[in-house]
Amino acid sequence: MAERKRIMTAKQNARALLYALLFVGELVLAGSLSAQEMRGTIRKESFGKTAGGEQIDLYTLSNKKGMEVAVTNFGATVVTLKVPDRAGKAADVVLGFDTLEGYENGTAYFGATIGRYGNRIAGGQFSLDGKTYTLPKNNGNNTLHGGIVGFNKKVWKAREVASKDGASLEMSYLSPDGEEGFPGNLSVKVVFALPADRNELKIDYTATTDKDTVLNLTNHSYFNLAGEGNGDILDHVLTLHAKQFTPVDKTLIPTGELREVAGTPMDFTRATAIGKRINESYEQLVFGKGYDHNWVIAPAVGTSLRIAAEAYDPKSGRTLEVLTSEPGVQFYSGNFLDGSKGKGNKAYGQRAAFCLETQHFPDSPNHPNFPSTLLKPNSVFHSQTVFRFSAK
Ligand code: GLA
Repeated sequence: MAERKRIMTAKQNARALLYALLFVGELVLAGSLSAQEMRGTIRKESFGKTAGGEQIDLYTLSNKKGMEVAVTNFGATVVTLKVPDRAGKAADVVLGFDTLEGYENGTAYFGATIGRYGNRIAGGQFSLDGKTYTLPKNNGNNTLHGGIVGFNKKVWKAREVASKDGASLEMSYLSPDGEEGFPGNLSVKVVFALPADRNELKIDYTATTDKDTVLNLTNHSYFNLAGEGNGDILDHVLTLHAKQFTPVDKTLIPTGELREVAGTPMDFTRATAIGKRINESYEQLVFGKGYDHNWVIAPAVGTSLRIAAEAYDPKSGRTLEVLTSEPGVQFYSGNFLDGSKGKGNKAYGQRAAFCLETQHFPDSPNHPNFPSTLLKPNSVFHSQTVFRFSAK
C-alpha cells in the first residue's frame, strides 16, 4: 500500500512539474506574441478528389493584418492571396481556379511550385558526371518547368509546423530517381509561412538527393495587384534590381550572354510601367512576345535575402516587393494567357497578370558560366523567397 502511494506521489509530482514547465513556456511566448498568434491561424478544408481518387486539401493561413493565403497540396499551389489596398479593402491578387479540377487540367502553372527544374532546358538534354540525361520535351524542342508531369501536378504531403515565422505549412514530396528523366531520389520540402504581424508570404525551400542531380525550384504565382480578373497589368509600375539579363534565342533558351539592361527596354532599374515599352521592336521582346526573361539579381547563389523586384498598382496602391536568396528572377508578363476562364468564370486575357519567378538561370546545366544548379548527396539545397505586400 505504502509502495503504491509512493508511486502515485511520484506520478503526481512528475505531472505537476510538466504543468509548471508548460506554464513557464506559455509565459515566455506571451512575452512577445501569444502562442496562438505565433502559430497564426490555419484552416483546413477539403479541396476535393483528384481524377485518380486522391484526397486533396486546402489550407488557409490568415493573420490579423488582413492577409489571407490559401495553399493546396495539389502541386503545393498558392490558390488565393488576399491583401488590402490603400483603403484597407482586401482583394485576391493571384490568378487561379475555384476548383481542384481547374488545377488538374490547367496548363499555365497558376500559383504552383515548379520543379524539378523551373524554366527551360535546351533540347531536353544535359550531361552530368560524364552521362547524358534525356528529358521529355514539352515546350517545342525544350523541357519546361520539370517536364510533362512536373511538381505542379504532384500530390504533396502537408503538415502544419511550428515556426517563429507564424502560421506555417510544410509541403513535402519525394521525387523518385529517374522521374521525368532526372537522376537521384530528391526529397523536397517547401514551407509557406504567413507572419502574424507582417503581410508577407515567405516560401522556404529545402532539398536533398542521393545522387548528383540538378534542380531549380520556384513558385509560379500570377499577380494582378488590382485583383485577379481585373484588367491587364500594363499600368503596374515595376522595378527590377538588376543591371543585367540573360538574352535568349527565339525558343527562349539563354544564349549564355549576360547583357547590360542600360539603354534597352529591359531596363527596370528605375520604376517603369510594364506596358511602356512592351511592344517595341527590340528583338528580345519579339522573341518573348513581351517580357519573358531572366534578370540577374546577383552573380552567385547567396544565403541571405536580397530585394529583387517591386511592383506597384497605382489604382489600388497595392505594392509587392520580392526578396530572394536566388540569383535570378524570371519576369513574365503573362504573354501566353489566352482568355481562358479562371476564378468566378472570369476570362484571363493576355497580360492579365505578371509572374516574378525567383530562380537560378534557365538552362544552367548547359551553361557552366551560370551559377550552378548541381546538388550533391550530403549537401542540403536551401532557398528563400518573400512576397511582401503593402499599400501606398
Ligand atoms: C514561364 C515561362 C513562360 C511560360 C510560363 C507558363 O514564365 O518562361 O514562357 O511558359 O512560364 O506559361
